[in-house]
Amino acid sequence: MKKLFVEETVNKIGQEVELYGWVDSKRDHKKIIFIDLRDRTGIVQVVGGEAFKDISQEDVVYIKGIVKKRPEKLVNPKIKTGTIEIEAKEVKILNKTKPLPLPVNTDGYEIDEEVRLKYRYLDLRRPRMYKNLALRSKFIDLIRQYLFKQGFLEIETPILSETTPEGARDFIVPSRLQPGKFYALPQSPQQYKQLLMVAGIERYFQIARCFRDEDPRADRAYGEFTQLDLEMSFVNREDVMKLIEEMIIDVYKKLNIPIKQIPFPVFTYKEALEKFGADKFDLRTEEEKKQNIQAFAWVIDFPFFEKTPEGGWTFTHNPFSAPKPEFMDDLLNKRNIENILTTQYDLVCNGYEVGGGSIRNHRPEALKAVFEIMGLSEEEINKKFGHMIEALGYGAPPHGGIAPGIDRLLTCITDEKNLREVIAMPMTSGGKTAIMNAPSEVDEKKLKELGIKIR
Ligand code: AMO
Repeated sequence: MKKLFVEETVNKIGQEVELYGWVDSKRDHKKIIFIDLRDRTGIVQVVGGEAFKDISQEDVVYIKGIVKKRPEKLVNPKIKTGTIEIEAKEVKILNKTKPLPLPVNTDGYEIDEEVRLKYRYLDLRRPRMYKNLALRSKFIDLIRQYLFKQGFLEIETPILSETTPEGARDFIVPSRLQPGKFYALPQSPQQYKQLLMVAGIERYFQIARCFRDEDPRADRAYGEFTQLDLEMSFVNREDVMKLIEEMIIDVYKKLNIPIKQIPFPVFTYKEALEKFGADKFDLRTEEEKKQNIQAFAWVIDFPFFEKTPEGGWTFTHNPFSAPKPEFMDDLLNKRNIENILTTQYDLVCNGYEVGGGSIRNHRPEALKAVFEIMGLSEEEINKKFGHMIEALGYGAPPHGGIAPGIDRLLTCITDEKNLREVIAMPMTSGGKTAIMNAPSEVDEKKLKELGIKIR
């Protein structure tokens, strides 16, 4: 096993070290040849001679050498190992590379996205991308640590599932055992997490993959994205908001990421529209944008329902939400619908909506009233949501939750312009998977097994 990472060489002056990595660059001065050896922690200059002749950029190499302090005037302050260099004693090429189809030692923004994603395994070699992935890993680690300390359980919920309404189209998967029937990939674990509250779990979270077929944008991944999905029993709106706010403050402090205002300012939907003309907004000054400060805010008191083009009603955020307590009678009696406010809270950061959640209807008649207001028939309600209404009838505790978007939070922290920069293997904007060629055709035989005929 490789024992030493490149960045650790600075502490090994005078010692013999063994290094493994890629050749980031090579400078041939005839008698002496320099290479920059790269691994995930950085680059280090290696000095060699004749033995380096056959090495090319991006070859994978093993180098044994002595760590030497560089003379003062040759120190390179731009790299972490700039005070030293390695005098090579032995070199082995572990694998020669073909010429790469794209450069990997630039920041990569200049390269066509299709090319970057086709060769994502090379694209991820650039230090900027490694940094983003390492930050993502640390970020999720700190979130887990915080939530475990608060008594949360991490629980996985099904991926092959039934449709759950989050306002996008579903991805559907045909069933072989029941031809003509389909699973849907979950747009979120919303219903499962509520059922876990009925099960008495009380505090649940999951780093959850969500699947939505919706038009991609810079802040919206096509296909799949990741939420920190969370649900708690015996809480009110302020409890959930406080928990997430304190979690973010703790995690950001550990990562040394500055937050503009603590506690996070709270705006009602009405105030947000009056002040910013939208329910997501950027509170930073130009100077704060340059310093990449994170400006969080909450938006609350959204209308529960909005008119559909056909003149009926639909939910603005989440049909499983409870109304604010003072509107419960209106909901149950289906009156004053346009004025009912929901317990929904949205978390906003640097102009993005980075999370949303609510207190839920834990009484079956209240959930049913939401669907009735939306014009669903008794039969449709039972078919689509009968399981939820039934479950709520068996002593469901009052509960609520939230789901901050991991990709969006990381896009803000890294100040990247596109969500794809913080996802290892995202899809192209045209819905093609990175590297592999999905969606792809399926053989006739498999289709037959599934009872499917392509028209
Ligand atoms: P919602 O649909 O608002 O709520 O999603 C919550 C958060 O998930 C992120 N998000 C996305 N991120 C990247 N690409 C997308 N296509 C995308 N869509 C959503 C956003 C958003 O704020 N079940 C509820 C949550 C709850 O009530 O607990 C839900 O999914 O940051």
